Amino acid sequence: MTFITSMIETQNSLTLGWLSEAQFDEAARLIHTSLASWYGRHLNQPDRFGGAWEPFLIFPEVYEALDPGCAVTVRDPLTQRLLGICFYHPRPSHLSVGIVVTHPAAGGRGVARAMIEKVLALADSSNLPVRLVSSLMSLDSFSLYTRLGFIPGTVFQDLQFPPGKLPPLVKVPWTIRPMLEADVPAMVELEERLTGIRREQDFAFFVKNHRQMWHTLVLTGPNGNGIRGFLGSIVHGGTQMLGPGLMQTEEEALALITAQLHHHAPGNPVILVPVRAAGLVASLYRAGARNVELHVAQVRGTGREPEGIVIPTFLPESG
Ligand SMILES: CC(C)(COP(=O)(O)OP(=O)(O)OC[C@H]1O[C@@H](n2cnc3c(N)ncnc32)[C@H](O)[C@@H]1OP(=O)(O)O)[C@@H](O)C(=O)NCCC(=O)NCCS
Repeated sequence: MTFITSMIETQNSLTLGWLSEAQFDEAARLIHTSLASWYGRHLNQPDRFGGAWEPFLIFPEVYEALDPGCAVTVRDPLTQRLLGICFYHPRPSHLSVGIVVTHPAAGGRGVARAMIEKVLALADSSNLPVRLVSSLMSLDSFSLYTRLGFIPGTVFQDLQFPPGKLPPLVKVPWTIRPMLEADVPAMVELEERLTGIRREQDFAFFVKNHRQMWHTLVLTGPNGNGIRGFLGSIVHGGTQMLGPGLMQTEEEALALITAQLHHHAPGNPVILVPVRAAGLVASLYRAGARNVELHVAQVRGTGREPEGIVIPTFLPESG
């Protein structure tokens, strides 16, 4: 394993390195501690991420399978204690960032900035824009990225149905069915056409579904031809989310969302919906959905507003 040591603060140096498989437990503990502490202190939601760190092993494990070796760490040079982790996801069209965490005891010392700067240097060396989705409830996170040159774009509201509430299935004229391996090229083409990004490896990963965690639906065109939209989902431990998804109309988005929600019932996954998709948001409100958080897509470098309805996810955060 390579370690790169750099002086980040003159008074207080930090050691940058890369996460190895032997450090996955340590990484999962840090992700849990950081999220639980931040949401407990700032949003009065100490129980939001549960009491156990083990479910957070999913992040290093999935990301190692999807993007081997792509996690920057910061350690205290004296104690070697892990202070921060930043996962990144190189794709042909861009580089995505997420999840990023700093230990609560090391906040405000430049830990996150050091990790992101390392990732930005990697992106710059390949001339790639950098993309991420950050919480609008967290000024720490919003400030971190905008100070580093990211520009906020699409705003998302995180919607969730209370337990026991399930919207009715919405039908569209075409077919909704589970994704097949043969769908990958059409999904890649659709996403590149509507959003400008390309990430074939994620779709291929979902269809292999080694751990049986992903359930991805596609919406076909007339007579089952072509792909008009798709929506993935993950249910694992505490993580229940829809996405990634891309649809051409709000009606098609609602059809895919309700199909996923019925598949996962009585579970109630979170859905990030663009706030500008007003008809879709209104339909979900009418069915009982509640806002649980707000997020914003941010890009550093070239990017464009997507056409259609984009539904991001936090696993994998590769869009
Ligand atoms: C968000 C988080 C990663 C930040 O980590 P950190 O190591 O404390 O951040 P840093 O010290 O490197 O950088 C914070 C930057 O934001 C700036 N900042 C913070 N609050 C600010 C504000 N209100 N206005 C302007 N700038 C602000 C700081 O000055 C610093 O910028 P600088 O380096 O240019 O001075 C950390 O709070 C965390 O882990 N939160 C919980 C998990 C989370 O939300 N992760 C992000 C999404 S996955």
